[in-house]
Amino acid sequence: MRHNFTSCLSVLAGMLLGVSSVNAQSTTITGNCTAPESPEWVKSAVFYQIYPQTYYDSNGDGIGDLQGIILKLDYIKSLGVDAIWLNPYFESPFCDAGYDISDYYKVAPRYGTNDDAKRLFDEAHKRGLKVIFDFVASYTSIESKWFQASARQDTNKFTNWYIWNDNTWLNPPKEYQDAFIKGYSRRNGQYMRNFYYCQPALNFGFALPDTNYKWQLPTNHPDVMALREEMKNVVRFWMNLGADGFRADMAGALAKTANVEGNEQFFNTHEDATKKFWQEIRDMMRKEYPQSFMVSEWSYPKAALENCFHADFFHWFDGYNDLFQKESWRILNGYSQGHSYFDVEGKGNITHFLKNYLDQYTPTKDKGYICLPLGNHDNARLGNNRSATDLEIIYAFGITFPGVPFLYYGNEIGMRQLPTSWPQVEGAYRPRNGARTPMQWSNGANLGFSTAKADKLYLPVDTAKNAPNVEAEEKDPSSLLNRTRKLIALKHSEPALANYAEFVPLYAKENTYPFVYARANGKDVVIVVLNPSSKEATATFDVNYTYSKTAVLSGKDLKFIKKDNIITVNVPGQTYSIVKLK
Ligand code: GLC
Ligand code: CA
Repeated sequence: MRHNFTSCLSVLAGMLLGVSSVNAQSTTITGNCTAPESPEWVKSAVFYQIYPQTYYDSNGDGIGDLQGIILKLDYIKSLGVDAIWLNPYFESPFCDAGYDISDYYKVAPRYGTNDDAKRLFDEAHKRGLKVIFDFVASYTSIESKWFQASARQDTNKFTNWYIWNDNTWLNPPKEYQDAFIKGYSRRNGQYMRNFYYCQPALNFGFALPDTNYKWQLPTNHPDVMALREEMKNVVRFWMNLGADGFRADMAGALAKTANVEGNEQFFNTHEDATKKFWQEIRDMMRKEYPQSFMVSEWSYPKAALENCFHADFFHWFDGYNDLFQKESWRILNGYSQGHSYFDVEGKGNITHFLKNYLDQYTPTKDKGYICLPLGNHDNARLGNNRSATDLEIIYAFGITFPGVPFLYYGNEIGMRQLPTSWPQVEGAYRPRNGARTPMQWSNGANLGFSTAKADKLYLPVDTAKNAPNVEAEEKDPSSLLNRTRKLIALKHSEPALANYAEFVPLYAKENTYPFVYARANGKDVVIVVLNPSSKEATATFDVNYTYSKTAVLSGKDLKFIKKDNIITVNVPGQTYSIVKLK
């Protein structure tokens, strides 16, 4: 799931990106920016991600449901967000929490019915909220009727809809050995999975198929084309019911390549055939649903924003970990080591992240948006040994950075990552299990999530005495909940914080705090200063922009000492400031 960015070259480039190299190219604030092609509502939109299992249980069976989300729409609206992304709610045996779909056209009974989905879309629209669904195009569940037909010995319509080699005994090519599952069915062959064993890859064909392997179908094979048409109908089905777009799961993992190894083949293939499929869908959406929004889990904006998606999540790379989850006890997968930039210890580094970000941002900024999610269902919670103040600084970053912000449910109240001892249900191996726990509505039974007995809950709730909850935070004007609302409101009131507004890094030095950047849109200019470290820090940077005064919009009112074009600012520990130049 992770790039290998540790080549000497990129380390060296990261080291060179001190203030001088940033200054050399980019401290010119021009205010010039072009909004990428997207529906108007996306241009300053903030999304809220909801995990249906654990948001709100309306019927007391221990699991969240669509009716539960409907009941909470007024709360969601009160956050000031514009749109909701729902994790999968489709029929599924839940081997991977619903990312293993057995019927694309049906809501899973545990969440409700298709009518409930329609009502959810309608009720959200009444409140001016958009809703996007999760489109899992690269694989189904093994329990899908399509796969069950494909696994039969006889040849039928679905035989080629999945990737099977033609012999159970012969090993597939080396780079794929880990991806094939043997002995599942009567069919003499092995099927390719895309993630867990229960998620057989749908067959989008092979770019440059190896002629030694007849089972590697070309990307324009008629059966591959038929599958692609069916997938378009899946999108149309939910759009016609009222959805406003979708998030595409593992969007880069459709067409296969004969020589891509390991996890790269699942997350980051850059095959033209994959792009072509999404470009066709984008065309279809433009024509049939012009107000709709498409965001990918590709984590390679240069490919994803090439006329495929409006936006791409950029989080499966070590630069994202550098921000929030570098410590091995935070990421909990044994990969990363070191210190997060957003940590009171103040031992993090921003430059490796920034270099990789700019590599993607600079060539794509007029084409689409890069999303750096504020938590999600696959990572540990940001509230992992962090205070409300720490989290507010992170949200100030997420809301003021370019691109479309996505806030994971519960993060607005500072829900915590729960210990690794929490049950690992439905493919939620750590750290996912500790980040998918029930929303904390009150300090009542099950923290207001459900009336079921505690042992019937999808996952146990936070047992800490001081577990944050919505009810308490509503009453406190200085709660994280209310501070988050103010930040979201700022995004909508400040043109310089529009998702497409110009981004100019001003102070970003190796192993140094603070991190300072400007956002600008025409004559509107905002400077953002972030110091998550507990120690006071000073920044000196060049702003070739004439202004007569500053006004703090959020955070601490810092003094900008200006001499010629050089600004010096002293930033106390654990402080941020969003400042408007006037
Ligand atoms: C995506 C989902 C994740 C899931 C995986 C495989 O990465 O976000 O939750 O497990 O795809 O389906
Ligand atoms: Ca329920």
